Amino acid sequence: MPGSASERRDSARTGVVWAALGPILNKQSVDQPGLDVLDIGGGTGGFAVRVAGLGHRVTVVDPSPDALAALDRRAREHDVAVTGRQGDLSSLLDVVGPDSADVVLCHGVLEVVDDPATALATLARVVRPGGVLSLLAAQRHAAVVARAMAGHFQQALALLDPAAASTDPEHRPVPPTGRTGRRFTHDELAALVVDAGFGVDEIHAIRVFTDLVPGSLLDLEPGASAALVELEQAVASRPEYLPLATQVHLLAHR
Ligand SMILES: C[S@@+](CC[C@H](N)C(=O)[O-])C[C@H]1O[C@@H](n2cnc3c(N)ncnc32)[C@H](O)[C@@H]1O
Repeated sequence: MPGSASERRDSARTGVVWAALGPILNKQSVDQPGLDVLDIGGGTGGFAVRVAGLGHRVTVVDPSPDALAALDRRAREHDVAVTGRQGDLSSLLDVVGPDSADVVLCHGVLEVVDDPATALATLARVVRPGGVLSLLAAQRHAAVVARAMAGHFQQALALLDPAAASTDPEHRPVPPTGRTGRRFTHDELAALVVDAGFGVDEIHAIRVFTDLVPGSLLDLEPGASAALVELEQAVASRPEYLPLATQVHLLAHR
C-alpha cells in the first residue's frame, strides 16, 4: 500500500480499474514488446505515466495545454516517455488516425463531450480490431443519493431525470451540465458502447465505499486503506453494487 495519505486515497479510488487493466497491460510477449495505448482526455497523466512505466507506447490527447504541460513534467519526474498531443474527441482521427491503438483509455471524458454516441463511434475507429476500450464514467444513482444526503434535494431530483444522461426525448444530445457533466447508468453506458460496435467484456463498480468514508479514518487507522481497497475489489464485479458506485468502468473489445 502506497505511503502518503493522498496516495492511499488515490489507490482506493483507482485500485479496481488498475486491477481490471492488469491482465491487458501485462500481456506482453517477445513478438509484441509493447502496446500502443491512447489515453483520450488523459489530463495530467495519472494513468498514462504509470502505463508508460509498464513499457507501452503511450499517447495522451487532451484539449488542455496546462494539463499537457503537467503531463510532461510528471513523465519526466518518472523518467518515462509519453507523447502529449493537443486535441479532443471531435478531432481525434486527425490527430492519431484510424486503427492506431491496441488499448484506448477514456476515463472521465464521456461526461463532458458534446455527444457521447459520436465520441464512442470515433473511439471504435481508433481502436484496432481485437483491441480494448477502457471506459470510466460517472454513475448517476450514487450522485442522486449523495446530493440527497447532503440536503440538496432539488439537485437530487434533477439528477433523477434520465434525459440528462445522453439524449433528450427527440434523441438529440443534451449538453453536459454542472461541474462533472453527465452521469450514466451502467445499462446506458453498455448500450452506448454496443451501439458503437464494441463487445462488452466486463463491467465494474468503482468507488462504492471510498467516497463515503471519512478521509481521517484512512489517514489514522492502520491498515484501513488496504482493507478498503480489498472491499472495493470484492464488490466491483457484483451487479447489485453498480447503482451504488460513483463511477462505472467498462472493458470492451472491438
Ligand atoms: C476529469 S478529467 C480526467 C482526466 C484523466 N482521464 C483521469 O482519469 O484522471 C477530464 C479530462 O478530459 C479533457 N477533456 C475535456 N473535454 C474533452 C473532449 N471533448 N475530448 C477529449 N478530452 C476532453 C479535460 O481537459 C480533462 O483533462
